[in-house]
Amino acid sequence: MSIAGKVAIVSGAAAGLGRGFAERLVSEGCDVLGFDINQDVTDIPGVTGEIADVSKREDVERVVEKAAAMGEIAVLVNNAGSWKKTPVTSSWIEALSDWDFIMDTNLKGVLMLSRAVIPHLKSGGGHIINLSSYYVLPAKSDGTNPEDTDLYNASKWALNGFTDGWAKYLAKDGITVNGLCMGATDSPMLRGLFPDGKLPPELGAVMQPEDIAGQMMDLINSGRTGENIGAWVGHPVTIGEVPPLHRRITG
Ligand SMILES: NC(=O)c1ccc[n+]([C@@H]2O[C@H](COP(=O)([O-])OP(=O)(O)OC[C@H]3O[C@@H](n4cnc5c(N)ncnc54)[C@H](O)[C@@H]3O)[C@@H](O)[C@H]2O)c1
Repeated sequence: MSIAGKVAIVSGAAAGLGRGFAERLVSEGCDVLGFDINQDVTDIPGVTGEIADVSKREDVERVVEKAAAMGEIAVLVNNAGSWKKTPVTSSWIEALSDWDFIMDTNLKGVLMLSRAVIPHLKSGGGHIINLSSYYVLPAKSDGTNPEDTDLYNASKWALNGFTDGWAKYLAKDGITVNGLCMGATDSPMLRGLFPDGKLPPELGAVMQPEDIAGQMMDLINSGRTGENIGAWVGHPVTIGEVPPLHRRITG
């Protein structure tokens, strides 16, 4: 079923990957509602912008009500995410405050936004895309989990659990749920890892938000569900045949 003419919601749409998703969905003919925590997303032609915090229930309900008034919701991109280094030996105060900072956005925000949107998707199917990470792509993660980003990684492992469970539960309604577990992609979050915001050569080829937005469209058009699709440096993977069930969570 085509998504053209339908409504798409993108969280964290002001910058980085979220901006790439919003632009691509506009070019696919969607009416896009893009929101972000501090900035209004008014500079992307075709996007209706909102300032909203995905970790606040009242903001989430307001955004979804507005999107539903725009038309039939067909796509939800759970993109907003937060990242922080928190070694396990850090202070209790730091660890518990980072827990709230990361989990409230990366998990509770995804849960609330999805719960609010799903009743609207049920009338005609739809697609949920969760932004996970290559760190936690089960088939490829060996050796790629940085030891001091355990809270971020834990949030994304748990997100994979949402993807898996919701895909199974919502299959009867024709709703697909997939995860994008990509590696380094040029964005303020990635640049923020380096002191001067410059990407070091040893990082190799870095993907661009539009590469990942293309991967999202391949996933939507494939009709596949319950998968965590990986994309490593420079080249998103080609989406092939649907694998047998026992191989679904692979890269
Ligand atoms: N860039 C990468 O290399 C990379 C790799 C793997 C996974 N990811 C994931 O992809 C997603 C997008 O990452 P990015 O690199 O574009 O990040 P980014 O920080 O550059 O952009 C994220 C956007 O989300 C917004 N945001 C943060 N918290 C929010 C909240 N509570 N409510 C609403 N908006 C909020 C930010 O203001 C920002 O505009 C994240 O979930 C991230 O974990 C990114």
